[in-house]
Amino acid sequence: MAAAGPGRGGADPLAAATRRLAAAAAAGGCAPRWLAEELWRIAGGGDRADHRRRSEPARPEVLARFQGLVARAAAGEPLAYLEGRCGFYDLEFEVGPEVLVPRPDSECLIDWALERAAPEQPLRLADLGTGSGCLLLTLLHHLPAGRGIGVDRSREALAVARRNRERLGLTARARLLLGDWLEAFADRSLDAIVANPPYVVPGEELGFGVAEHEPPLALFTPPGRPLACYERILAQAPRVLRPGGWLLLEVGAGRAPAVAAAGRAAGLRLVGTRRDLGGVERAVLFERAGPPPQRPTSRSSRPST
Ligand SMILES: C[S@@+](CC[C@H](N)C(=O)[O-])C[C@H]1O[C@@H](n2cnc3c(N)ncnc32)[C@H](O)[C@@H]1O
Repeated sequence: MAAAGPGRGGADPLAAATRRLAAAAAAGGCAPRWLAEELWRIAGGGDRADHRRRSEPARPEVLARFQGLVARAAAGEPLAYLEGRCGFYDLEFEVGPEVLVPRPDSECLIDWALERAAPEQPLRLADLGTGSGCLLLTLLHHLPAGRGIGVDRSREALAVARRNRERLGLTARARLLLGDWLEAFADRSLDAIVANPPYVVPGEELGFGVAEHEPPLALFTPPGRPLACYERILAQAPRVLRPGGWLLLEVGAGRAPAVAAAGRAAGLRLVGTRRDLGGVERAVLFERAGPPPQRPTSRSSRPST
């Protein structure tokens, strides 16, 4: 008797998986059959339509891998963790449970930052809460004269960012620093800061599996203090930015007005806000007053790894 598997002559595990994944897929906003096919692709190393072309039954080890992936997906584990990678903007990043899965929502920060920074500008950039490194490394990829520092309080996240940095060939221009927001930075040492800090209030409703699988340090603010991370960053940014430097923050839905007000109160000039692809006001941009100074030719900054 033929082994079970997609292809002629066997029971179809994709159909069974599709039924099992229905709840997970509905909660994640994708079609269960599509998710089953994606898992089949990951298990077999082929492409998503591989099962349609197969005439022989699937190999037992592929089937076993597939069933394991189906169980994890049904428990809400993000597809990006199951695959170990995730597309962001125009690059691909290694991801795992140590880091937040990069979200398309954050891509509007990249667009806005790239409008502000000319490719030939020797920008000195920091990415606060770098996680996988997706913001820092994408920006440096597009700004060949720029240098940057990614800061994170999670040693495990920095290990992932380090591997992404190497794979993307950015080791010479990107430093990674274990630290607490802007604490380690010298006065007037940066031209630009980007940050996507944790902004989920404990108890707030999240997508299926997010709270269970993504790192709490990447998601949650202290109870009752939704702006806590912004306040820490905004308190230091005017000191660390050069005159004319800018700070670009990602914010949660509905939080842009409060973050804009907090930035103004910290002495920064509000440039404006932008919406993400879903229409949510997602990014807030500030400037430190004053013209950019003449840039010295030799460049160094304090933090390093
Ligand atoms: C929302 S995630 C953003 C990750 C990545 N930048 C992205 O956009 O996908 C927030 C990140 O901030 C880090 N973090 C939390 N508290 C921090 C702190 N006090 N200093 C530096 N990083 C911190 C977390 O470990 C996490 O990687």
